[in-house]
Amino acid sequence: MNIIVAATGGVAALKTPSLIRRLYEAGHKVRVAASDGAFHFVTKLSLAVAAGEAVFDRERWFYPDGQALHIDWARWADLLLVAPATADSLGSAAQGRADDVVSALILAGVPRVVWVPTMNSSMWQHPAVQRNVDTLRGFGHDFLGPVSGALAAKGERAGLGRMMEPEDIARQLQGFFKSQDLHGQRVLVSAGPTREYLDPIRFLSNPSSGRMGYAVAEAARDRGAQVSLVSGPTTLPEPEGVELMRVETAAEMLSALSSRFDQTDMLVMTAAVADWRAKSVASEKQPKMGESQVLKLVRTPDILAELAKHKTKQIMVGFAMETHAGVERAAEKARRKKLDFICLNYPTKENSAFGGEQNQVTIVKASGEAAALPLMTKLELADIILDRAVKLLPTG
Ligand code: C5P
Repeated sequence: MNIIVAATGGVAALKTPSLIRRLYEAGHKVRVAASDGAFHFVTKLSLAVAAGEAVFDRERWFYPDGQALHIDWARWADLLLVAPATADSLGSAAQGRADDVVSALILAGVPRVVWVPTMNSSMWQHPAVQRNVDTLRGFGHDFLGPVSGALAAKGERAGLGRMMEPEDIARQLQGFFKSQDLHGQRVLVSAGPTREYLDPIRFLSNPSSGRMGYAVAEAARDRGAQVSLVSGPTTLPEPEGVELMRVETAAEMLSALSSRFDQTDMLVMTAAVADWRAKSVASEKQPKMGESQVLKLVRTPDILAELAKHKTKQIMVGFAMETHAGVERAAEKARRKKLDFICLNYPTKENSAFGGEQNQVTIVKASGEAAALPLMTKLELADIILDRAVKLLPTG
């Protein structure tokens, strides 16, 4: 999404650079505008550094060729996010003025406006401000916050008027543009690695970060699904609005997924399940003995293959990592595991799969039909996977 973040003159403008970074992390393109008042609280340079380009302010209203920035930017943007938004900026926009960059962008026709107000609670509750808010809602604008908490003025008790925190704003925005095409659907997602213990301390595992699965879970939630996420050990924060079941071993993952599979409409299996476990797990930490050791391994359950035995209506999506003959091997897995499609990774490709924020996959069907997607963020990829899967759901 193309987002213009506009800061106006509240003390919370200090947080605008961090908001810009969050939006970049979420895969958006961001430009920044600021009213004169914003510069009392945040420097032009820190806004420009966060956005990676010059700030649109009163001094930069026109390009050297005479073209007006507010017209040009309003055409570029999908959304104007005013954060922080002062009482004055709300009033100006409600009146249809164009004497500051925010109201000018609005009149120039940005397709969507989201206000993140911050002000003293008495000001927020004033009928004049509330009337302006109603007017702006009438124009189709949205509001995030204000929230309750400590307020800026000295000696002021906590109240309603704080700016919503940058990470919450970024998260709420994710849901804004999404259609609710998964409303009423139950989506089951697996994520992360598994651990297969050799003794109480040591285990076999892999570097999966869980990011791909968490992105699928969050994207499905934002599209209205009821989501259960079965996660191996990761360092990721618990996603809001998602049922999270934490597991360690492949056997635990199979059992958690099985407990939800019957009621599931769509399963997306991103977990990097360890293929082997120790034949016997020592109950105590094993001392180092000799120069070599023989470890007897047995296969872990193939979770997808097990679940596929009970497949009724479920749309099933898997992931596969291959170093060679990728498409043929992936198509064979899709057939064997009864998958509707499988997302094929090449671990050798830069920036793909394990750990990073981005991923590049080829979508392969059981028939061998393959479509290579470009490198993109895991959140973008999550939505593309869901776009494809949602088309396969039975209608009505
Ligand atoms: O056979 P391979 O491990 O490449 O298959 C990958 C797909 O199968 C992934 O979706 C993975 O989550 C799943 N898988 C599984 N149980 C295993 C190993 C992999 O469900 N034991």
